Amino acid sequence: MSQGKFITLEGIDGAGKSTQLAWIADFLQRRGVNVVVTREPGGTQLGEKMRALLLDTRLTMHPETEVLLMFAARREHLDKVIFPALARGDWVVSDRFTDASFAYQGGGRQVNSTKLENLEQWVQGVFQPDLTLYFDVSVALGQQRTASIKPADRFEQEQTEFFQRTRAAYLTRVEKYPERIHLIDASRPLQKVHEAVRDTLEILFFQK
Ligand SMILES: Nc1ncnc2c1ncn2[C@@H]1O[C@H](COP(=O)(O)OP(=O)(O)OP(=O)(O)O)[C@@H](O)[C@H]1O
Ligand SMILES: [Mg+2]
Repeated sequence: MSQGKFITLEGIDGAGKSTQLAWIADFLQRRGVNVVVTREPGGTQLGEKMRALLLDTRLTMHPETEVLLMFAARREHLDKVIFPALARGDWVVSDRFTDASFAYQGGGRQVNSTKLENLEQWVQGVFQPDLTLYFDVSVALGQQRTASIKPADRFEQEQTEFFQRTRAAYLTRVEKYPERIHLIDASRPLQKVHEAVRDTLEILFFQK
């Protein structure tokens, strides 16, 4: 049995990750792939409890505490969900992964990136997604799309500058890892974004 593929979706709040995730899962299933859909922070029982702590607006925490919780949840996620699924030959599609730590905690919260790299090495070694789709939107558009959907979580209540630093950090990652991270212009209408995603998946994984 061949090893499955690991695909991660990234982008600031309101970029359209969750919307695309459902569509991608359906697209892959129609091509005969067994798909495991998951998310970060979270994806496991323990991880979802950590997610609740991370998003709770009643709590404050040191930025490095936030980083440590993110990577603790990720360790669990890899062990309980991602690695077993890939070993079975399933494909895993995750709504956010380690690039989000570099973007939100590294960019947004300005945590030292060497510390993030050390944790990345500790928690996942050389393991990386086979493909990361980065959905790029302006901060203003992201905010416009998420406004009035649900009450803001601990991240969503941050100021515009926080999201500008987060987006800038994502764009730096795109430049640094052009082979793995594909930028999708997610400011376009839904159908256009679906088409861009479909083209990328077909070229990378389904070409004869
Ligand atoms: N290309 C698009 N054009 C217009 N609206 C869109 C587009 N993509 C997503 N939306 C809408 O924007 C809103 C936010 O999308 P979605 O929840 O998928 O974003 P997200 O990246 O998952 O955000 P979050 O990080 O907050 O979970 C939804 O109401 C969705 O229907
Ligand atoms: Mg979402």
